[in-house]
Amino acid sequence: MHEVVRDLPEDIQSRLTQLAVRMGVGEEDLLLSFLHDALDETEAVAMKYAQSAPRLLFPDDEVLEAAPVMPPDTNLPFSFIDLFSGIGGLRLGLEAVGGRCVFSCERDKYAQKTYESWHGENPAGDVTEISTKGIIPDHDLLAAGFPCQPFSIAGVSKKNSLGRAHGFKDRTQGTLFFHLAEIIDRKQPPVVLLENVKNLRSHDKGQTWQTISGTLQELGYAVFDKIIDAADYVPQHRERVFIVCFRKDVFGDAPHFGFPATPEGPKPKLRDILDKGVDDKYTLSDKLWNYLQEYAEKHRRKGNGFGCSIAKLSGSTRTLSARYHKDGSEILIPQRGKNPRRLTPREAGRLMGFPEKLLDPKNQIVSDTQAYRQFGNAVVPSVVEAVARQIVTVMREAVVSTSGNGCILKAKKKRRRRPEMVTEQLARRKPR
Ligand SMILES: C[S@@+](CC[C@H](N)C(=O)[O-])C[C@H]1O[C@@H](n2cnc3c(N)ncnc32)[C@H](O)[C@@H]1O
Repeated sequence: MHEVVRDLPEDIQSRLTQLAVRMGVGEEDLLLSFLHDALDETEAVAMKYAQSAPRLLFPDDEVLEAAPVMPPDTNLPFSFIDLFSGIGGLRLGLEAVGGRCVFSCERDKYAQKTYESWHGENPAGDVTEISTKGIIPDHDLLAAGFPCQPFSIAGVSKKNSLGRAHGFKDRTQGTLFFHLAEIIDRKQPPVVLLENVKNLRSHDKGQTWQTISGTLQELGYAVFDKIIDAADYVPQHRERVFIVCFRKDVFGDAPHFGFPATPEGPKPKLRDILDKGVDDKYTLSDKLWNYLQEYAEKHRRKGNGFGCSIAKLSGSTRTLSARYHKDGSEILIPQRGKNPRRLTPREAGRLMGFPEKLLDPKNQIVSDTQAYRQFGNAVVPSVVEAVARQIVTVMREAVVSTSGNGCILKAKKKRRRRPEMVTEQLARRKPR
């Protein structure tokens, strides 16, 4: 009996003993027959699901041993870490599909304050100081909205000419991405989700993107990327590149991942997120309004469109930036008989799609300046949620447990017993 299962709860153990006595079979044989029946049932459900699922994860290998079978429309209780966490836009999107954050890290003390007040967790500080400290727990998914920096190729060329190997450590040395890559290398999370500004791909004549994508592939990942405009989710034109990576030794060389389709229906409108009776302190002074108009006119004459922008209430705004607090010039709200006004911090939060319950001015524990900066740096949670739903459909295929304690994904592909071997083994031990 103890070879099959240890430490059965007392009530189950005593019912098993009674049943075995009543049926005149050994406890071990009885338990094995139960397992056998359960396995048959699980296999039948698995086959049903597999027929509707796009593919099997390990077609040439074995079906996952004891993988829990889940309907495709439920969330997944996976664990994740939130690096360069800001105020937690990635976190909210991942939590919406069942993710559970086990570690966060953010250097800015004001963003840390907001993060703690909203998510009940004080993020660790500078990534460059924690990447080698061994304080990051194991996790299923690593999420990071890392700042973009150029990579110098000078060092690589020199090393190349000396005939030395140049892995990501050489190529990315001195950048924040280097620290990120080091964490990925150490922790080997099955899934990585990165978010960055749209021009990451063209930055430094494509060199930055080549280095990032090459490094992720070198670390063992299949890499997918797409620029997504948040205007389908919130009334703001905000293009960001989303990079989704799956470990090949967990998901195979070509995981069936696809970015979300564009949501159907009309796009959100700015007027739906605006408050009425906004405090006059958000209205531009004559001096600032005149200055912005002159500045815009100067640029218009030079042939570039840079300048202030009066937003269209029936459409979406320009991109909210981290500098919005300075003059609000990129998104000005027209007012009848008055100079235009800025968005309030609460409206800026709505424009980013943060949930209303977090945006109550009573809960704003930083200055307006910091609040605008935090929203301008953030990622739109509903876009993350849409991407995460797609990730979850792939993740589901590598689940080995759904207890939600620690990691739920198989971390590395191991040899597994074929199901028929398990059945054969059980058949040999079936009660007579
Ligand atoms: C683009 S924002 C990410 C925002 C986040 N995704 C959100 O939704 O709020 C990048 C963040 O990285 C933080 N950061 C920059 N350098 C850092 C470092 N060395 N260690 C930790 N955080 C850092 C910045 O303070 C900023 O909040």
